[in-house]
Amino acid sequence: MMKKLAIMTSGGDAPGLNACIRSLIRTATWYGIEVAGIRYGFEGMISGDFIELNSESAGNIIQKGGTILKSSRSKRFRTSQGRKSAYLQLKEKGIDIVIVIGGDGSLRGASILSEEYADLSIVGIPKTIDNDVTGTDYSIGFDTAVNTAMEAVDKIRDTAESHDRVFVVEVMGRDAGYLAFDIGMACGAEGILIPETTADFSYLERSFVRGWDRKKTSLIVIVAEGDESGGAFQISERIKKLCPEKDVRLSILGHIQRGGSPTASDRILATRLGHAAIETVMEGGRNTMVGIVNKKIAYTPLTSVEKRSMDIDSKSLQLLEILIT
Ligand code: F6P
Repeated sequence: MMKKLAIMTSGGDAPGLNACIRSLIRTATWYGIEVAGIRYGFEGMISGDFIELNSESAGNIIQKGGTILKSSRSKRFRTSQGRKSAYLQLKEKGIDIVIVIGGDGSLRGASILSEEYADLSIVGIPKTIDNDVTGTDYSIGFDTAVNTAMEAVDKIRDTAESHDRVFVVEVMGRDAGYLAFDIGMACGAEGILIPETTADFSYLERSFVRGWDRKKTSLIVIVAEGDESGGAFQISERIKKLCPEKDVRLSILGHIQRGGSPTASDRILATRLGHAAIETVMEGGRNTMVGIVNKKIAYTPLTSVEKRSMDIDSKSLQLLEILIT
């Protein structure tokens, strides 16, 4: 008998969620699978906030930011009582397969639910602008966030250049530096501070002096919000001490990085992962995450999905050193 499937988005939103929802609905419908949507992630699963989805629901959403299914971070789902209520809601609606589009925390939660209730099948899809999920080279939303921030920093560069200023720009990345690193590289930043390395202020000073020596008039430092030396406020104070004669300003990009229309790369990634998730279901796969590794679909057991951090090797550090000289 054909099973009933539900899809949900969980945790912080990311551009490309709607493209993924569209792909899931269209592929499931192609196979004749009935699809429900769970609103507000695990919170909606617990409270039974389910809606019917069909091919029409997937119309004209591929280019939209946010998530038509809404999202949340659920404290209740962290308790066994909360998960039991969620399970009972799924059973009541006749749902035995759930596709969870989430970051490492949501996918861990999904894994616990599938271990506690063996008659449920769960397939995970990684999304987070932080790109810090194991088992995939890219998570849905990362590429768009890099591009959004790059455009913002390019604009900051214009005004910094006009006023001969130093700018510290804080980007998202609570635990990982993927975003900061790629944004910094794409914008030709003179400094990048990420949680995976210890901030080296003497390196920053050398970089500044080199820049001024060759008549650079603006300097930009990108800092990940999770950097151990603090956010933009603390870093700009330190920089003011390094060069008291300079005009130092700061800018925190914040949630602008989470919104907006997804890039082509994110739409394609979301579409491929959505399709792969349904194919996995059709082949009887369960409790697995579909990701992308070396441009190919890759499968990771949900139990081994974790938070990942950047592996900064000496080559990457040398690359940055070369680029700022
Ligand atoms: O989605 C991850 C993330 O972008 C982190 O980098 C950031 O710290 C967090 O979301 C902020 O999310 P919220 O404001 O929704 O708590």
